[in-house]
Amino acid sequence: MTTQLIDAPTGLAELCSPDDLEAGWGEAAWMAGQQIAVYRTESSDFYASSHHCPSTGAKVMARGILGDATVEGQRVATVACPLHKEIYRLDTGDCLSAPGTSLPVFGVHEHGGRLWIEESK
Ligand code: FES
Repeated sequence: MTTQLIDAPTGLAELCSPDDLEAGWGEAAWMAGQQIAVYRTESSDFYASSHHCPSTGAKVMARGILGDATVEGQRVATVACPLHKEIYRLDTGDCLSAPGTSLPVFGVHEHGGRLWIEESK
């Protein structure tokens, strides 16, 4: 994912500084009354998703295992649920190991030295 600078963060929720997130890990956060998972990849790309695994509803995705996969010739960032290891694309939320299942994802933008999350997608 590519972060981008935007003029006005309308429709975005301020989250944190990029430096608050450790590379290669996820963190859980609250946004507009829901639990989300925010990820920083080893290459310092930022992603956000629901914290609830679509498989069971367990609130575990921020503890997922970050990785990548090749999909149609392109490398895409992924997160594997820590419980049963279903693998989700972080850019689209599509499940690579159980087609037809999808993890809700949210756009992440960098603006003014802060990370902002799209409140809906
Ligand atoms: S709880 Fe996530 S794959 Fe089963």
